[in-house]
Amino acid sequence: MRTAVYPGSFDPVTMGHLDIARRAATMCDRLIVAVLRNPSKNPLFTIGERVEMLEEVCRDMPNVEVDSFEGLLVDYACQRGAHILIKGLRAVSDFECELQQAHINRRLDSRVDTVFLATEACYAYLSSSLVREVVMLGGSVAGLVPPGVEDRLIAKLRQ
Ligand code: PNS
Repeated sequence: MRTAVYPGSFDPVTMGHLDIARRAATMCDRLIVAVLRNPSKNPLFTIGERVEMLEEVCRDMPNVEVDSFEGLLVDYACQRGAHILIKGLRAVSDFECELQQAHINRRLDSRVDTVFLATEACYAYLSSSLVREVVMLGGSVAGLVPPGVEDRLIAKLRQ
């Protein structure tokens, strides 16, 4: 079985993430969308909330599983029997950092390969941080995040 891991913070999941997950899921038997548990970061949504939102939006994809992890990504991937990491690339600005990560991950475990998918052009500018900022300042992110996620953002940021 070909298993791939799509890791990230997903704080929160955007339509850009969902597009990458949907396309990656067609390329493998099982896709694990894995949320990083990073105690040093100060996320808006808890791990439980991020996993729940991802489960809601991935529900129609039978070969997609949502999980969370901490520690090294390559260790987690190998524990789950995955040797493919999926990353979305929005622009050249993403590339340098992603290439560094792909190299260090291969250095850490040479069985692991990173597959980059180019984000749909209509989501090329989209990020979770931009979405959080727009909602905090009173703007609409309809169409940029899956239905339901905007309501959760409003509830968190405009209390
Ligand atoms: O959505 P993000 O925040 O850009 O995702 C970053 C992520 C989770 C892919 C990256 O931080 C990661 O892989 N963290 C796990 C720790 C690790 O393995 N670090 C060494 C290689 S980068």
